[in-house]
Amino acid sequence: MRILVTGGAGYIGSVVTEELLARGESVVVYDNLSKGHRQSVAPGAEFIQGELLDSETLERVLAEHQIEAVMHMAADSLVGESFQDPAKYYANNMVASLSLLKAMRAARVSGIVLSSTAAVYGEPEKQPILESDATCPTNPYGETKLALERALHWSEKAYGLRYVSLRYFNAAGATKRCGELHDPETHLIPIVLQVASRQRPYLEIFGNDYPTRDGTCVRDYIHVSDLARAHVLALGLLAERSAIFNLGCGGGYTVLEVVEAARKVTGHAIPIRFGPRRPGDPAVLVASSEKIKKELGWKARQQDLQAIIDSAWTWMRAHTLADRGSR
Ligand code: UFG
Repeated sequence: MRILVTGGAGYIGSVVTEELLARGESVVVYDNLSKGHRQSVAPGAEFIQGELLDSETLERVLAEHQIEAVMHMAADSLVGESFQDPAKYYANNMVASLSLLKAMRAARVSGIVLSSTAAVYGEPEKQPILESDATCPTNPYGETKLALERALHWSEKAYGLRYVSLRYFNAAGATKRCGELHDPETHLIPIVLQVASRQRPYLEIFGNDYPTRDGTCVRDYIHVSDLARAHVLALGLLAERSAIFNLGCGGGYTVLEVVEAARKVTGHAIPIRFGPRRPGDPAVLVASSEKIKKELGWKARQQDLQAIIDSAWTWMRAHTLADRGSR
């Protein structure tokens, strides 16, 4: 198939692009490089630098490349930033995505796989979280992703658009080529590894008074390659129907458990300090991924936290420490 990957120069998008190419698909990456890195785009993919808001260019790209489906990963995705600048999130996640949908309609592309998020659930009443559980976002980021899911729902009814929305829990780890590097970095595992490699003096842990086994937040870390495989399965489903799936491992680790695992992997001290809670952080977010297991046969292959961290550490040492600042 010929696939357009928006945000294909980003962390998850670059790994999904690798996976699609490995399966023999043809990929056009469309990315404005506001956060992604040109060199993260796999060599086998065509790269076009462009804005989602530019629906004319998008329509032309979709038509010229005879695109059959879109993987929509371009988005802002930081909970904290979304509180400070909700307008940016509505503009970049919602308005820009509507522009993409408009271009898809014009070019008669009728299938989309959306990168959605656990943040649509807000502060869940029970764990693990099912797709059928209440969606009640507690931050603007989750709000915009949920609004987009709803826009897809109504677009299916009105225009026959097929969609699969994948609600990611905490993406982590790296492949040989692609890993996580944001600027500024806010995600736990890369920060922990920066502390281990002495790029930062310590990790500030946001809150140790949560109702969890050690007082720190519990998250469900899923290897980015497992996420990528789910995208390929989602693509296959588009021919049949629309759907929404959670994507996590179903376990959950506290922040302190992540730090301990990283100490073991790196063999380095990781100094910590406890700070106040970060706004919008739910205490526990653990996925039930039973639905995607049952319906698409997907299963996380890399469930061991140390192995996930080890892949991120290997990538970081190969790419950012030797070549700091160039990506
Ligand atoms: N944390 C710290 N210190 C840090 C960074 C993170 O204690 O310096 C903690 C957070 O408070 C949280 C956990 O580590 O408890 C994980 O934080 P991340 O920032 O790595 O990830 P989030 O769980 O906040 O965010 C992820 C995705 C979002 C998604 C969200 C759903 O990155 O896109 O899960 O809540 F919206």
